[in-house]
Amino acid sequence: MKNLKAVDPQIYELIREEEKRQEEVLEMIPSENYTSKAVMEALGSVLTNKYSEGYPRKRYYQGNRIIDSIETLAQERAKKLFGVPHANVQPYSGSPANAAVYFALLEPFKDKIMGLSLAFGGHLTHGSPVSFSGKYFNIVPYELNEKGLLDYDKIKDLATSEKPKIIVCGATAYPRIIDFKKFGEIADGIGAYLLADISHIAGLIVGETHPSPVSYSDVIITTTHKTLRGPRGAMIMVTDKGLKKDPELADKIDKAVFPGLQGGPHDNQTAAIAVALREAQDKLFKVYIEQVVRNAKALSKELLKFGFSLVSGGTDNHLLLIDLSNKKANPAKGGVNGALVAYALEVAGIVVNKNAVPNDPMPPFYPSGIRLGTPAITTRGMKEKEMVKIASWINQVIEEIKGDELPKEKESRSYFWKEFRRRIKENKRLLGINEEIKKFTQKFPVP
Ligand SMILES: Cc1ncc(COP(=O)(O)O)c(C=O)c1O
Repeated sequence: MKNLKAVDPQIYELIREEEKRQEEVLEMIPSENYTSKAVMEALGSVLTNKYSEGYPRKRYYQGNRIIDSIETLAQERAKKLFGVPHANVQPYSGSPANAAVYFALLEPFKDKIMGLSLAFGGHLTHGSPVSFSGKYFNIVPYELNEKGLLDYDKIKDLATSEKPKIIVCGATAYPRIIDFKKFGEIADGIGAYLLADISHIAGLIVGETHPSPVSYSDVIITTTHKTLRGPRGAMIMVTDKGLKKDPELADKIDKAVFPGLQGGPHDNQTAAIAVALREAQDKLFKVYIEQVVRNAKALSKELLKFGFSLVSGGTDNHLLLIDLSNKKANPAKGGVNGALVAYALEVAGIVVNKNAVPNDPMPPFYPSGIRLGTPAITTRGMKEKEMVKIASWINQVIEEIKGDELPKEKESRSYFWKEFRRRIKENKRLLGINEEIKKFTQKFPVP
């Protein structure tokens, strides 16, 4: 049988190029990671050939004896690792997992979801008006306080007056510990379901560097590809608390996933999730996660030394949010902007994402901040010493582009943005840092 290179040299070459890119840069998008070879082996296996609509021992297709064993193993590993009585490992990804929970428990166009606003670090699927969550359900967004922290008293007041049917806790860009116990009390106080979306911090929960929501929430969803270091995918878990509140809960969730929202599960993905869960049981995973958090803290400390402003003043987890609005060469102008910085950092070999900061006066395309995290670079073996170097590179890049301030006038922005990219791609200082980073990353092999 012909291999990829022979069948499709174009795609083969592009994959090789991407492989090289991933090796040569500092991958610091906090939702990304490098999976193991074992996970990729399962993902690229013959399991991709099979159809298995339904659940183990209740399938609509024949030939699923082995798939049943694989899916059951994945479920059992998830249950053991997180300490829950029920796990559904079929959601294709995090967004469909959240959709399944809403469709299982809510009536569209009637019931309310209360979630952290996208502008304050919540996910699109927590009720943004541009996502199905905001289009099909009534939304009550909550925000962070002026310190960039969750304000549990305010959240309680809002929940009491709005009476949502589901409260979503969990975030995409929140650098601090989430108090699941307080969220549980708030939800119990109004008889709402508590959905903990631990997509970002699942690995930290397994590695015991973040408290678990298991005792306080009814349902938990997580993606499997972030700090958990598995393949792209997701799981929905039901807790004992949830089953006590609603004995039908697990059944409702399962039916919402299939046949409610999805058809056949991706069995290769299920097997790869099972492998990742097995890896996460190993004591080395805890060592890894502890280093992820130590690295994020070390990076924060170094960035603060350079005068960066961090949302909430630092981090307790794997990510940090830099508010760039204090970086102004000319106070009369718009200041350094997240979009420009993210672009310049990439030219230098550091990959992050632009991100809104709480109460951001700027639009989402030109937000005032950047979000960065340590899961992927820690997988490569980097430690606190390397964070000192990385902080210094980040500072050098921003100092280099400090004079490039986004025009305050909206009409001039897109022309400026285009010109900026053209110019910055050839910036000698940034290209010099890129060379240094290429050499540096060679010492930290990708798995
Ligand atoms: C908290 C949270 N929930 C859900 C998702 C959605 O996951 P996916 O991109 O796999 O749909 C994300 C992804 O960034 C997330 O951060």
